[in-house]
Amino acid sequence: MRVDVVTIFPDYLAPLGLSLVGKARQAGLLDIRIHDLRDWAEDRHRTVDDTPAGGGPGMVMRPDVWGAALDAVLADDGAPAVLLVPTPAGEQFSQRLAHDLAATLEAGSRLVVACGRYEGIDSRVAEHYASVPGVAVREVSIGDYVLGGGEVAALVVIEAVARLLPGVIGNAESLVEESHGLAGLLEGPVYTRPLAWRGLEVPAVLRSGDHARIARWRRGRALDRTVERRPDMLGRLGPGQLDRADRAVLAQHGLLVTPEGLRPLRIRPAGPDDAAALAEVAAATFALACPPGTEPADIEAFVRDHLSPEAFAVHLADPGCAILLAEPGTTWSGDLAGSAGTTASDGGDGTGSSGPALGYTLARIPLHPDDAPGDPDVDAVVPQRPVAELSKCYVRSEHHGSGLADALLAAAHADLAGRTVDGVPLAAVWLGTNRGNRRARRFYARAGYRVVGARRFRVGAVLHHDVVMVRPLGTVDAAGR
Ligand code: ADE
Repeated sequence: MRVDVVTIFPDYLAPLGLSLVGKARQAGLLDIRIHDLRDWAEDRHRTVDDTPAGGGPGMVMRPDVWGAALDAVLADDGAPAVLLVPTPAGEQFSQRLAHDLAATLEAGSRLVVACGRYEGIDSRVAEHYASVPGVAVREVSIGDYVLGGGEVAALVVIEAVARLLPGVIGNAESLVEESHGLAGLLEGPVYTRPLAWRGLEVPAVLRSGDHARIARWRRGRALDRTVERRPDMLGRLGPGQLDRADRAVLAQHGLLVTPEGLRPLRIRPAGPDDAAALAEVAAATFALACPPGTEPADIEAFVRDHLSPEAFAVHLADPGCAILLAEPGTTWSGDLAGSAGTTASDGGDGTGSSGPALGYTLARIPLHPDDAPGDPDVDAVVPQRPVAELSKCYVRSEHHGSGLADALLAAAHADLAGRTVDGVPLAAVWLGTNRGNRRARRFYARAGYRVVGARRFRVGAVLHHDVVMVRPLGTVDAAGR
């Protein structure tokens, strides 16, 4: 594959003899030729520039010299060519463009790079070659800053394209996981030996040998980084590219995946004014957790007696109750601007709600460290003390699978992990969930809960059978944190 570079500083391109590109040239995979523009100048001083038409500072490169040079270089073998002109006024160079150029080269085109200096090349050069059959002109910028000329940009483009060409990189798999790779995310952190260095450890999961967990962890950290550093990239991910674990990670960053795009999400401790909102979301979600066949009248009575605004007002005033509320946020703390299909942030702090509650958790904190689950209907041994009960974790059905429940649960764990009972930090959380509710059981199992016993639970006249599950606090959650 052939690449030509035309420049007034051929030595600037010497790095193309080194490393990956140098090896590809030696191996005959790449034929890179560097040309001195001045070879086509006609006067004694080999002049390539002149003053700008219309006045102004600096010098502009002459079209006649460039025309002679490019005609000669392009005429060499008559193959179709991309004429790439580095300029800060060009389209943004990207991994996608690198892939496009690599594919064009693979298909038999040549790449000719015209490196301008000074104030740039007379604009008629790009205009003219754009009309020459077989030549495609791309004016390309490598970033929003101004360099002294196009040579460094040429090095950047050629290296980025060369490493995508077949045979240049030994392990093509590394092209998938890298930043701006096919996953559309920044690459997460990477580590090697020694496992402990200056007090910093390689994350334990990477030493586990569990390939599925490692892949999951890597994907989670890639998402973390992309959210934190390049949130504009998130909008290019279609909902189909985000599985439920991805959605859980995003939800923990305050972003909810909806069919309309990413929306700000806020999870916060409920306050005295939230009784009505909690009762509303509780009434809308309670039936989902009941086994099929539960009488609607029984559900209604349970909601009326136990999930009313008055009941929540009592819970909210009870220091032994910890309630978290998830609601649509009005702003997101990052900057999603530029990403299609997202709500643009106003740069706010993620506070403020813009709609009814989406879900909630309610946990009960024991009064004494040794308080057992305490309920005569519970038949389970919980080894850890003190243990809180996660009494409710409900999310509206339209947000099932959105990661919202995972984020709420993670927030509840984080909240409980920071609490003490008589000065003793909470050690675990237990809950009862319907024995036949496989979706809920899978959900809690994914979040680290294990079945340790059973509980009877009455809705109306019907006796339900729950499993009791326990999760120590401070273990890794579903997002692999
Ligand atoms: N020439 C000068 N600055 C440049 C940039 N940012 N990108 C490409 N070519 C340039």
